[in-house]
Amino acid sequence: MHCLVIDLPGMKARLIIDCDPGHDDALALMVAHHFAEVLLVTTVSGNAPVDLTTANALRVLDLLEVATPVYSGAAEPLQGAPRYALHVHGADGLGGVDLPPPGRPAASGAVSQLIDVCEANPDAWLVALGPLTNLAQMFRLRPDLAERLPGISIMGGSAAGGNATPVAEFNIFADPYAAAVVFESGARIRMCGLNLTRQVMSSAGWLDTFRDQNNPRARFVVQLLTFLHERMVHLTGQAAAALHDPCAVLAVTHQQLFNFVPRPVTVELTGRHTRAMTVVDERPLPGSRPNVEVGYTVDSAALLSLIRTGILAGVSSI
Ligand code: BDR
Ligand code: CA
Repeated sequence: MHCLVIDLPGMKARLIIDCDPGHDDALALMVAHHFAEVLLVTTVSGNAPVDLTTANALRVLDLLEVATPVYSGAAEPLQGAPRYALHVHGADGLGGVDLPPPGRPAASGAVSQLIDVCEANPDAWLVALGPLTNLAQMFRLRPDLAERLPGISIMGGSAAGGNATPVAEFNIFADPYAAAVVFESGARIRMCGLNLTRQVMSSAGWLDTFRDQNNPRARFVVQLLTFLHERMVHLTGQAAAALHDPCAVLAVTHQQLFNFVPRPVTVELTGRHTRAMTVVDERPLPGSRPNVEVGYTVDSAALLSLIRTGILAGVSSI
C-alpha cells in the first residue's frame, strides 16, 4: 500500500493522554509529543501499579525533554482488585529498561486535572491508553463533559477476540465497570480495539531499522521492544508485538488512515465466560443507536512509518 503521509505544519491536534506505561504506552507518548500538542498526561493502574506507571510516564517524558504535566490517578478499579500485565511488561512495567529515575516528583489528582484541562480546552481530544477508571470517575463527577469533549480515542476492547480472555481485551478487563460508564457516557468515542491494533505489528525487521540510529530515543526503543519481542516469543511463539497504544493517538492525528464504522457497543459485566467483552452490534438494524466509532481497518504500513518518524524525530515545535 502506498503510504505518503502529509504532516501539515501548524495544524497540530491537542491531546490529553490517560495511560499506564507499559511498553506501547511509552511509544504512544513519544508519537503523541511529535505529532500533537500534549496538554496533560494522567496515569492509572493497569500494566503495573500506578506508582510505577506514573514513574514510567515521567521517565519517558524526561527522555523526550518535555515538561508536560503528569498527574497520577486511580490505584484500583471501580470494583474488585487491580489486575496487572506484568507477565507482558515486566516487573517495572517497562521491562527493566535502562532509563534514569524521574527527574521530577509525581503529582496526584488526575481526575480533577482531567476535569480542569478538558474544561479549559474544549478542542482537546482525550486519548485513553489504559483501564478507563480515571475517565469513569471524571464522568461520574461531571457527566456534562461528555457533550463538551470533541471525542475520546480509546485503545481498548475488540470487535473480534480478546487477549486477557478469549473475548476480553486487557484495558476493559482490568476495569469493565469503568469502561461501561465511559461507553454509556454519550461522549463521541473512537475505539481502537485489538481487531485493529493487531494490524500494526512491530517485527524483528522493523526493530532493526532503529539499531543503527545514533539517538537515545532509538536506543530506548531497541531495548524496550527487544524485551517485548522476547516476551511475545514465550506468549505467542512470534518475535513480534502489536503496537496497540500508538494507534489511538494516530486515530486522532491521522484519522484519514483509518476506517471507522459507527456501531452500538456495550460492555459485558456479568457473563461467566464473556465478562469485559465489548459486544459490537454489527447488524444493520433500522433505528439502532451507534455509540462508538469502531475501528476496522488501518493503513498498517503508513502507521508503522509514522510511529518510526515520531520516535526518531522526538518533539517537534508547536
Ligand atoms: C492494551 O493493554 C496493555 O497491556 C497495553 O498497554 C495496551 O494498552 C492492549 O490490550
Ligand atoms: Ca496501555
